[in-house]
Amino acid sequence: MRTQVVIIGAGPAGLLLSRLLWREGIDHVVLERRSRAYVESRIRAGVLEPGTVDLLMAAGVADRMHREALTHDGFHLVFDGRYAHIDLKELAGSPVTVYGQTEITQDLIAACLGTDTKLVFEAEGVTPCDFAGANPRVTYAKGGQTHEILCDFIAGCDGFHGVCRASVPPGAMTLYERVLPFGWLGMLTETPPVEDELIYVRHERGFALCSMRSKTRSRYYLQVPDSDSAEAWSDERFWEELRRRIPGSAADRLITGPALEKSIAPLRSFVAEPMRFGRLFLAGDAAHIVPPTGAKGLNLAAADAGAMAQGLAAYYGSSDGAPLETYSETRLRHVWRAERFSWWFTSMTHRFEGDAFARRLQQAEFDAVASSRAFRTALAENYIGVFRNGSPS
Ligand code: FAD
Ligand code: DHB
Repeated sequence: MRTQVVIIGAGPAGLLLSRLLWREGIDHVVLERRSRAYVESRIRAGVLEPGTVDLLMAAGVADRMHREALTHDGFHLVFDGRYAHIDLKELAGSPVTVYGQTEITQDLIAACLGTDTKLVFEAEGVTPCDFAGANPRVTYAKGGQTHEILCDFIAGCDGFHGVCRASVPPGAMTLYERVLPFGWLGMLTETPPVEDELIYVRHERGFALCSMRSKTRSRYYLQVPDSDSAEAWSDERFWEELRRRIPGSAADRLITGPALEKSIAPLRSFVAEPMRFGRLFLAGDAAHIVPPTGAKGLNLAAADAGAMAQGLAAYYGSSDGAPLETYSETRLRHVWRAERFSWWFTSMTHRFEGDAFARRLQQAEFDAVASSRAFRTALAENYIGVFRNGSPS
């Protein structure tokens, strides 16, 4: 079999790329290791930047999002009980959209399946081959049969633990990494959110985040040691700990209920440079990871997919290879800006065991944000990913 692009991985990056390529009439195949049910039920991110919303509209998958998503003009930052409100709309010119990654994935899969796109779930042993040269191929097995697809390009959208980056010759990419000694324990519940907007909380016992998926569904997170397991946290223990970390007024309003899902996500910063090798291009978590505090992971993955689709459209549409050639360089500028922001926001809001200096710095950072409009504007612009007060990106 022959196609133009093989996309490895059906997460947000791979699925969005597929929809954007389909709109450009670029022939492609998507290979996913997991089942459709597994991919559609994975609970992850929930905050969309305006640029991500635009891409979902361009991909033709925004109808349900427009009907069901929440629009948030700002969020709250709470530091040892003191509130600072970050008015995103006023400071940076745009709200954010609250709509779960799970919903986006479902919308994208439904859109793919409504067309002639070849989307293969439970593809085993997916292997990108010969991508250093002009004739890449991808092999995989399904239902006991092996398959080979010849292609022009391979899009590595297979997440942090995927096969694509791991297939690049050692030394061809420089890997930058910092692993944090804690994770986020997330819990999803069918309960009304404690507040209309998100609350990011820095507390002596550790970070907490009150988020949501709808007006009746909440998503809460607690900073926990990386040695913890989700099984060690009963629902009661989670609620009790959350109540201790959030402000008293919010704790009084908190409505509790049974967990629909509970899991721990490790926190790390990671970048692989460049984001390509030969005819293999990486997008999303396959190329970079941010700690989740700035809600950047999904948004970066979507922006990578948008840039890669543009590059491929120029290559096939007008024989212009330049956007693909500069894909990595262009995306890395944005990636590092998001890495910096996510690192800063994490450093300011999390508990670092036994580091009194870090603790005082956090206080100084919060004071700067609370007292300076310029600091709040920088925070707001980074959060929504639009820099109207800075130089053009
Ligand atoms: P992924 O979503 O990881 O998708 C990659 C896909 O590739 C998967 O479907 C995987 O099954 C498939 N795959 C992997 N290996 C292979 C293979 N060998 N062959 C074929 N297919 C393969 N971000 C936030 O902003 N906020 C959050 O709260 C948040 N929580 C997170 C919680 C967890 C546990 C994790 C892991 C991430 C979280 N993120 C969060 C980050 C965000 O979800 C990711 O940045 C986003 O999913 C990246 O999308 P992606 O398509 O690049 O990768
Ligand atoms: C969510 C996750 C984040 O990392 C974040 O910064 C905000 C919200 C969420 O899952 O709802």
